[in-house]
Amino acid sequence: MISQNTIQQILSRIDITEIIGGFVKLKKRGANYLGLCPFHNEKTPSFTVSPSKEIYKCFGCGRSGNTISFLMEHEKYSYVEALKWLAQKYNVEVEETESSPEVKAMQQAADSLYIINGFAQKYFAEQLFSSDEGQNIALSYLKERGFREETIKKFQLGYGLEERDAFAKVALAAQYNQDLLQKSGLVVVRDGRISDNYRGRIIFPVHNQTGKIQGFGARLIRNNDRAPKYINTPENEIYVKSRILYGMYFARQAIDKMDECLLVEGYTDVISLHQAGIENVVASGGTSLTHDQLRLIRKYTKHLTIIYDGDQAGVKAALRGLDMALEEGLSVKLVLIPDNDDPDSYVNKIGASAFREFIATSRKDFILFQIELALRDAGADSNKKAILVNQIAETISKINKAEDFTLQQDYIRKSAELLKIDEAGLLGLVNKFIRDRVGKFETKAGMVEPSASGPDSEQAIPENEDELFNLLFRDEMQERAIIRSLLEFGMKPWEERKVADYMLEELGDHEMIDNTDLNKILDIYKNWYGQGFEPTAKNFLYQEDQHLSTMVVSIMDFPYELSPNWKEHYEGKILTREDLYKEEVISTISYLKLRKIKRLMEMNQKDLEKSHTPEEQVMYIETHKHLKNMEKELLAQVGTVIVK
Ligand code: GTP
Ligand code: MN
Repeated sequence: MISQNTIQQILSRIDITEIIGGFVKLKKRGANYLGLCPFHNEKTPSFTVSPSKEIYKCFGCGRSGNTISFLMEHEKYSYVEALKWLAQKYNVEVEETESSPEVKAMQQAADSLYIINGFAQKYFAEQLFSSDEGQNIALSYLKERGFREETIKKFQLGYGLEERDAFAKVALAAQYNQDLLQKSGLVVVRDGRISDNYRGRIIFPVHNQTGKIQGFGARLIRNNDRAPKYINTPENEIYVKSRILYGMYFARQAIDKMDECLLVEGYTDVISLHQAGIENVVASGGTSLTHDQLRLIRKYTKHLTIIYDGDQAGVKAALRGLDMALEEGLSVKLVLIPDNDDPDSYVNKIGASAFREFIATSRKDFILFQIELALRDAGADSNKKAILVNQIAETISKINKAEDFTLQQDYIRKSAELLKIDEAGLLGLVNKFIRDRVGKFETKAGMVEPSASGPDSEQAIPENEDELFNLLFRDEMQERAIIRSLLEFGMKPWEERKVADYMLEELGDHEMIDNTDLNKILDIYKNWYGQGFEPTAKNFLYQEDQHLSTMVVSIMDFPYELSPNWKEHYEGKILTREDLYKEEVISTISYLKLRKIKRLMEMNQKDLEKSHTPEEQVMYIETHKHLKNMEKELLAQVGTVIVK
């Protein structure tokens, strides 16, 4: 690990325009610099660099970040690599902190595994191209399937000989340790004898983000019933199946440029599509997608297109990933390959350009596709249809990012049309699912007792779109506003203390903030502040989790409009947010408190309606009065200054 001291030294020297200017031609435009975006094709410049905020943003493709994320995206460096590159540029000596023995052991194992895998890959490739068995059985098989030699070389394919321990012998002779060989999955010990694991198989190396080999997939040349068609590397320090998408190393730049990621099932699908000039493609290995895999895609694009065979199993597996994809903010399209083909065989059958045309014309929206499929299945059965309507509402409710608000509206409209139901009704149902989640959250946070009524209590449905808007959009805006105040004004004075002391106290331990990312930022803030380290926005920009850093950029980059009376003239001077920070802090904090009270009042109201005894009723009415008073006090405090 690079020491915090070194990181601070590097950060203090960073000049974003100098660094980015080394890769992109920038022109000064007002306070900012402007250039052609390096992340998408454009003719007129929309890539903006702000030296004062130390961020860049492209108004064409939306890509944004800081100096480090620029290096990570443009040069494909890891966080540490980017820091080291900057250190070298600015002549900062890199001081590494001692890692714990466990971390060290892990790193050593990982390093050794990469080395062993690299060695094995070269060995297998040599067998494929140079041994008689490789040429006659494996290379001829691959060529018969239509793979060209340059493609085979690009993907570094190989072949494992039939002989029991051909590789093991070579590896042991080269002094590779047997435990490590076993851990890598390249060899296994059976009946006390060491044997190669991938015998008589085509070897597909799996590359990590920097092109190093994490593991292998190995396919039997001729299918046989006794052995699995594919064997993969077992889970170890560097091969973690849930985080791997085969082909990502070769696809990244194309995904970036095309702003779309194609997802297929298998190794051969990826390779054939590449060969056909379709390079923005990765494979999941036929299982349903994990959060980590979706996040990996999300780093490059918001647009995921799943290309599967028409067979039911594949589609069902993909469907299971749909809700997760929506939660990650991805829009998902689906293309079904007809008949008994898969993408590999289909592209070989109809050719590259016809295949591209096919994808472009037959991609369907995944949610709408799901509806069509299920409607066909339900037929005239009104029970089944009711269940379907519920499922769809729940799915749509998962699109809960503020920026996707219009997307959600769009889905509600289109789905209502397909389902032939009332749009307002569907909206109400979607709201119900959102409300249920809010309710669950409150219960979890220990704010209210779990309600006795099930999640289908009608009470929770907001009446109209305005309320939905409040729930989805305004809440998140307000939560962002809080974090923004904290980041911007946290170190300013607050009575005897600092703003951060006051705000952290008010935000308390009970999670006042719904958004998980914002909560994470808050946690990190508390942690840093607790350790006496200044949690400024700048330090957030450069912390390792790029997802959070992007979030901070978007918070700092889009100032919320202030209500008109914020821009008061004071003795001829227009007051800025900076001048009014105390008011802003009070108003943002009060808003969250008001929201909490509002939610509590709603819960109380529900309980009141369900209460059976007069005593219970009196209690709920008292609670209501009490909450109402608190609300009044808060409103008086906020006055008219609420962030719009
Ligand atoms: P070809 O049959 O050579 O065209 O390969 P394919 O990729 O089309 O294979 P298939 O459609 O049968 O399977 C799709 C993907 O699922 C494969 O690429 C593998 O990642 C995975 N898979 C298939 N069979 C097995 C198996 O027996 N074991 C494991 N672990 N994975 C498998
Ligand atoms: Mn296939």
